[in-house]
Amino acid sequence: MPTMGALHQGHLDLVKKCVAQADCTVVSIFVNPTQFNNQEDFKKYPSSVKEDLDLLESAGVDYVFLPEVDTMYPSSPVLKLNFGHLETILEGAFRPGHFNGVGVIVSKLFHIIRPDFAFFGQKDLQQVAIIQTLVRDLSFPIEIIVVPTRREEDGLAMSSRNRRLSDLERKTALIIFNSLSVAAKELKEGKEWLVVQEQIIRQFQEQESVKLEYFELVEREAFEIKKQFDPHQKMAICAAAYVGEIRLIDNLIINS
Ligand code: PAF
Repeated sequence: MPTMGALHQGHLDLVKKCVAQADCTVVSIFVNPTQFNNQEDFKKYPSSVKEDLDLLESAGVDYVFLPEVDTMYPSSPVLKLNFGHLETILEGAFRPGHFNGVGVIVSKLFHIIRPDFAFFGQKDLQQVAIIQTLVRDLSFPIEIIVVPTRREEDGLAMSSRNRRLSDLERKTALIIFNSLSVAAKELKEGKEWLVVQEQIIRQFQEQESVKLEYFELVEREAFEIKKQFDPHQKMAICAAAYVGEIRLIDNLIINS
């Protein structure tokens, strides 16, 4: 199970699934520099290795792989992975180079650990599409298991970056989950997506401390942006916004 540490209950849900399913559970903790398109975000990425190790031990993890940057990157990788249209939408568009970094590090980890299963969180829904592409196109003999997003009581999606929010920002951040919930409800009631989307974008514009990057309807199989809701397709609403200086992402699956 690849992680970047600063573990929370969402990670532990993945660990629990893995421990239940596999004979041996390996968790890696590595804050991968090559997937950060923003140096400030990398420098300030939360770290709590001691607490992480205690949590993983209590959760029944067999091995933790905690490599140094030089171990993972004895030299800078020259290889570039291009994930086609996934690079041009949502996270791909707003975080240039991010998915190349994810693809390379996850490939390295897969080669080193050689897992039968690998667990990823639904919160990073587009990352799941990236990993599925990677596994398919490079024939990794690995089954990818996606684990639902764990939320705080009020609905905020758990994320290591939540630790960086002030109390006020933490409250403000709820606009992301609330907007996703309202939009999902309205879609199910038959409202036009473009009308729903416009209304949500306007609400974000009224909040000074939040900057919405995207709020889009996505078809999950091909991972494509859609302008119309289709109840017969597997869809999700995906959002990304800055709350103060912290960039958060979340999504809701509409029909599974
Ligand atoms: O989702 C994450 O934490 C990271 O992108 C991952 C998969 C551990 C790769 O560094």
